[in-house]
Amino acid sequence: FADPSFSAAVIAWQKQHGRHALPWQQTRDAYRVWLSEIMLQQTQVAAVIPYYQRFLASFPDVQALAAAPSEQVMAHWSGLGYYTRARNLHRCAQQVVAEHGGIFPRDPLLLQELPGIGRSTAAAIAAFSYGVQAAILDGNVKRVFSRVFGIDGYPGAKPIEEAMWRRAVALLPEQGVESYTQGLMDLGATLCTRSKPSCQACPLAQRCVALATDRVSQLPVRKPK
Ligand code: ADE
Repeated sequence: FADPSFSAAVIAWQKQHGRHALPWQQTRDAYRVWLSEIMLQQTQVAAVIPYYQRFLASFPDVQALAAAPSEQVMAHWSGLGYYTRARNLHRCAQQVVAEHGGIFPRDPLLLQELPGIGRSTAAAIAAFSYGVQAAILDGNVKRVFSRVFGIDGYPGAKPIEEAMWRRAVALLPEQGVESYTQGLMDLGATLCTRSKPSCQACPLAQRCVALATDRVSQLPVRKPK
């Protein structure tokens, strides 16, 4: 599946049309990148921004967060939802301090052992903080892959998901993993949306199997009942 023109198209689009001014894009501090990625797991960018800023004002580094009382951490999360994220966030900070000397590991496999960090989040943190070549595969990226490659199976099914992970790894660029990763996220969030995608503006339109076969609205395949 290797194809350098895929990542080149995503990177060129990201540089011209992707999002560049988000608060967590102004830093390579793994603590800040991690905090943003956890908040963004189940919450939209616009809702996350004020929480992210208040959180950092109160807990400027991983030591401050680890040492804070749980009630104070939960109070800062109140309104964001999915509160397991906040409990895992606090435990993760404590583990980074206790087991990693307060420094988030750069190896995605080590990041993945921390509470609340799955494979895709580990890769995003490693790529954005340390420039590590690691593949993401979140809901948005699954939608992009389903359409571009015309994948007919439900992306939540194990074999389909495993095939998508193999593609995600094979498509990684040798250079510019940060722009590529942000570009995939931004494409999925802003152009390749679930309904009414903006295919005319998409840098992958010429290679999109779903567009060529008029199946954009049918893909990704919905969860079988
Ligand atoms: N969703 C998950 N991670 C994101 C990021 N870094 N930027 C924008 N949306 C995201």
